[in-house]
Amino acid sequence: MGFIEYKDSLLYCEDVALQELAEEYGTPLYVYSKQEILNTYRTMHASFGSTEHCICYSVKANNNPTLLRLLAEEGAGAEVGSAGELYLALKAGFSPEQIIFTGVGKREDEIEFALTRNIFMLNVESVQELQTISRIALRLNTTARIALRVKFMIDSQTPFPSTSNTSSSKFGIDETLIAEVFRQAQQLPALEPIGLHIHLGTQITSTVPYRESAQRVSALVQEIRAMGVPLQYIDFGGGFGVPYHNVLFHEALPVEPNAPDVPPLTDFIDAFLPYLQQTGCTLWIEPGRSITANAGILLTKVLYIKDSGSKKYIVIDSGMTDFLRPILYNAYHQIVPLNIQSYEHITADIVGPVNDNNDAIAHDRALPKVHVGDYLAIATVGAYGFVYASNYNGRLHPAEVLVNGERVRVIRSRQTFEELI
Ligand SMILES: Cc1ncc(COP(=O)(O)O)c(C=O)c1O
Repeated sequence: MGFIEYKDSLLYCEDVALQELAEEYGTPLYVYSKQEILNTYRTMHASFGSTEHCICYSVKANNNPTLLRLLAEEGAGAEVGSAGELYLALKAGFSPEQIIFTGVGKREDEIEFALTRNIFMLNVESVQELQTISRIALRLNTTARIALRVKFMIDSQTPFPSTSNTSSSKFGIDETLIAEVFRQAQQLPALEPIGLHIHLGTQITSTVPYRESAQRVSALVQEIRAMGVPLQYIDFGGGFGVPYHNVLFHEALPVEPNAPDVPPLTDFIDAFLPYLQQTGCTLWIEPGRSITANAGILLTKVLYIKDSGSKKYIVIDSGMTDFLRPILYNAYHQIVPLNIQSYEHITADIVGPVNDNNDAIAHDRALPKVHVGDYLAIATVGAYGFVYASNYNGRLHPAEVLVNGERVRVIRSRQTFEELI
């Protein structure tokens, strides 16, 4: 995590000691590095070279309005999955010509909202959705630019059970049906089929599925064009994996075992770019995690430490209501002290305060010895972190702050009790 690192025993985000932020703003606290987000976005952008492209940030990964504005100002587009996300993207200043709307279950009012805002393209997932969009566009006296989302049977090599390109996935249109659906799209009024969309899944840690699907997309574009559909755009989705193990280094930290190999971000793009370039299409991608995950860290306080049976429990003040990924996906996140005071390791379950026995961030985790009142950090939480916060158990949404060099700005205040009502 380039901009989040130890300096001696203290963990820093850019030029700010995180312990100071925890003391000043309280915990649980999400902290983001502005430079990390910009650096990642710029690296991604540069790796396309002279190829015409648009990086549409996937708003679902982290929809904090300040972070959205940051990316909009950098020239990014937005991929939205609901009218709410579209509203946030427009408010943040993304240009409608750089917004695409994905999702398997768009409601009629959401389609109307997108069409009246004249966003660039709707990614369509079924014949019925095509018919609905056509009917609404006709009524609004407009034309809807659409892409069809194709589903290849491909092993996406992601740890998540619900990958996007398997026969049991609800997403997309089967590869065997896609030509026929393009034919129907051409015949329906008020539709302009201009693109082909694919999203392989999320947290993919191999470049192989990208290379394989790029070859197949490239062939499919030729086939669809041969039918007379003037395809000009490929939206190649997101899903680039990030490392979650051993992301923070200090000689006192245990080396985390079973860390999957994760290629650098640019390797993913290098894997698919040559095949997609051959089509002459403008390339769009919709990454979320790979832009913001590394930029975020969640600060939490040790409330209690207790031994029970054969286990040690470290009870912290962040739980499933602040950070759901460990419960939802059995996801692994590095957990480290903000101030390393011991080289001695303990092994414990690190659990939250919520009245649900599943509320654990980590099981049997080794970490340097900590005491009640110490602060810990949960790493790599900038994507799919705050967006899942809930008020279950009457718990308040955490605050979010953005660090830029030495400067710190609250970009979402901690919820108040009044806001629970
Ligand atoms: C259609 C679509 N596009 C883009 C993304 C972003 O994926 P990621 O955050 O893994 O890059 C997702 C999330 O899975 C998605 O469903």
